[in-house]
Amino acid sequence: MTARPIIIDTDPGQDDAIAILLALASPEFEVLGLTAVAGNVPLTLTEKNARKVCELAGRPEVKVFAGCARPLVRAQVTAEAVHGKTGLDGPDLPEPTMPLQAQHAVDWIVDSLRGAPAGSITLCTLGPLTNIAAAMIKAPDIVPRIAEIVLMGGGFFEGGNTTPAAEFNIYVDPHAAHVVFTSGAKLTMHPLDVTHKALMTPAWIDSLRALGNRTGAAAAAMLDFYERFDMEKYGAEGGPLHDPCVLAYLLKPGLFAGRDCSVEIETGSELTMGMTVVDWWNVTPAPANCRVINAIDSTGFYELIRSRLARLP
Ligand code: BDR
Ligand code: CA
Repeated sequence: MTARPIIIDTDPGQDDAIAILLALASPEFEVLGLTAVAGNVPLTLTEKNARKVCELAGRPEVKVFAGCARPLVRAQVTAEAVHGKTGLDGPDLPEPTMPLQAQHAVDWIVDSLRGAPAGSITLCTLGPLTNIAAAMIKAPDIVPRIAEIVLMGGGFFEGGNTTPAAEFNIYVDPHAAHVVFTSGAKLTMHPLDVTHKALMTPAWIDSLRALGNRTGAAAAAMLDFYERFDMEKYGAEGGPLHDPCVLAYLLKPGLFAGRDCSVEIETGSELTMGMTVVDWWNVTPAPANCRVINAIDSTGFYELIRSRLARLP
């Protein structure tokens, strides 16, 4: 088996953390590095949280880079109400001792894509798209070198989770999303329309705790904290686990279904800022620029995560 080289761009975040753990537990991936972006919490915390997660997985050699500290145009918006003050509230994880790489994440993304065979590196994005857009603006030659961008973001029939129209990752940096969605790169999007169809259950979180490893205990502690917000907000038995969908899709695409659509990002109206306008019914002549996922085998998804996290320390 040849491992798929991936870069994970992330703003941890408990659901980002589970996504990173899923990637690090999976030999199908060669994780070239993690690039942190401002999102759920400021950059100083997201880059630190990314390193904490690597150490939790027993992988201190993974390269972690810090990227953009704010969105391209708009003022920074964060989500401590969901993720807690640290962004990774719940478990008591030690301060990381592995280094933060000196190079800026945007430069490293550019160098990595230029230095690898064209079409070999997949970008997995779990936060606002600022780093990816900045890399595309700085070095447009990288765009045709990207194998695929698989992203968590957006929402169409499901609406938004940050405003009535917009999902957090796209709302935070809609201009960056616009750059990415108009780049011509191959895109697959996991919006709220899919993540809201796969809710965690308390029994599943308990099954992580029952794995008996430190990763399972820490994952359960972070998800106990994380899901209380969504359970209160949506009144459901459990909350969605957004970001791992990106990695699960690459591992087992058969768990998901969707269709190719035209997707445009709202950057003009404050009322609908950051809305992902998906032409699901193909009512415009605009060509499809994105595979939009809207269905998931929830049981298979959660079993994949549980079984992979069992492999970690
Ligand atoms: C997205 O926003 C963040 O809070 C989560 O980490 C996820 O990436 C869900 O809207
Ligand atoms: Ca995220």
